[in-house]
Amino acid sequence: MAFIDTIKARAKADKKTIVLPESMDKRTFEAAEKIIKEDIANVVIIGTPEEIAKNGAGYDISKATIIDPFNDPNKQKYIDKFVELRAKKGVTPEDAQAQMEKDYMYYACLMCKCGDADGAVSGACHSTGNTIRPALQLLKTKPGISSVSGFFLMEVPNCTLGENGMFVFADCAVNTDVDSEKLAEIAKLSAESFEALAGKDAKVAMLSYSTKGSAKHDDVTKVAEAVRIAKEKFPDLVVDGELQLDAALIPEVASLKAPDSDVAGKANTLVFPSLEAGNIGYKLVQRLANAGAYGPVLQGLSMPVNDLSRGCVADDIVGTVAITAVQAQMQG
Ligand code: ACO
Repeated sequence: MAFIDTIKARAKADKKTIVLPESMDKRTFEAAEKIIKEDIANVVIIGTPEEIAKNGAGYDISKATIIDPFNDPNKQKYIDKFVELRAKKGVTPEDAQAQMEKDYMYYACLMCKCGDADGAVSGACHSTGNTIRPALQLLKTKPGISSVSGFFLMEVPNCTLGENGMFVFADCAVNTDVDSEKLAEIAKLSAESFEALAGKDAKVAMLSYSTKGSAKHDDVTKVAEAVRIAKEKFPDLVVDGELQLDAALIPEVASLKAPDSDVAGKANTLVFPSLEAGNIGYKLVQRLANAGAYGPVLQGLSMPVNDLSRGCVADDIVGTVAITAVQAQMQG
């Protein structure tokens, strides 16, 4: 069974409520119809009657819950929660209302925060920054986590490397500046994400252009230090580095470059040293190897919120909703 089909089956087994705030985009309605038909999740769409009529015409969304952000009996509850959460930033009730009416992702995050939904998916017509900023501001990180990061679950066809072609790549989406502490945390979160979604033990490679001291530079030291921190903070984590990509993946190269490593040659979770490397790396594999790239999936948030590519099709939204629902199940 393809990865995404196993995730859909898991989502169906314990249905969660996922908000789709992009009623200004027809793909939202096409996806909502499929999600309801496949019984993957309960769907909430945020939109005015005009937006629903204009963009939802022709799609059967009769079983979705429609929330009109201008006429919602729960709206005052969300305004109050927004003000409570952002009091230190000087947000007034008027500011909160205006923000929620202008940007429905704020509305979606407040529904999650107030327990009226389990997660949200957006980004078909909003940038990554605009999609995740409301979640960072309102939902915040899980206890003990300092940074949210974004990974891709990669499914490489006809590949025996990693977990039969399955990998987590991180951080490919969020953190523009990563130091050793952040990389160590990304390693831990990525291992948990791999195990939650792929159902196999994670083996984490901290990637570099150097293997075990073969090159000297501050960039290399940053990754080597991240490995030291990760091993110290998370003694059960199977992690090693710094490793070049070939040493991380290919047993023959690993036996030459890192013969004593318990990760080299068998890594299934790849932590990139920078956002540039991660973002370029996943797109290379997606485009040149024709790999499935599910994400960016956010990890480290207190509740699951996920981004979409603006080039997505309705099936990508369906898949991301299923992943979000499974993340919600894992969070209890
Ligand atoms: N984890 C947790 N909280 C964070 C993080 C993070 N990684 N980054 C920012 N925050 C918090 C801040 O502490 C702040 O909280 P506060 O308002 O309570 O003080 C809040 O989020 C807003 O932070 P800002 O720095 O003001 O927000 P900004 O919009 O400048 O940056 C963002 C956050 C959007 C994540 C930014 O780092 C960004 O744009 N990253 C790159 C996204 C991107 O373009 N990715 C590549 C494309 S994705 C793709 O190709 C699939």
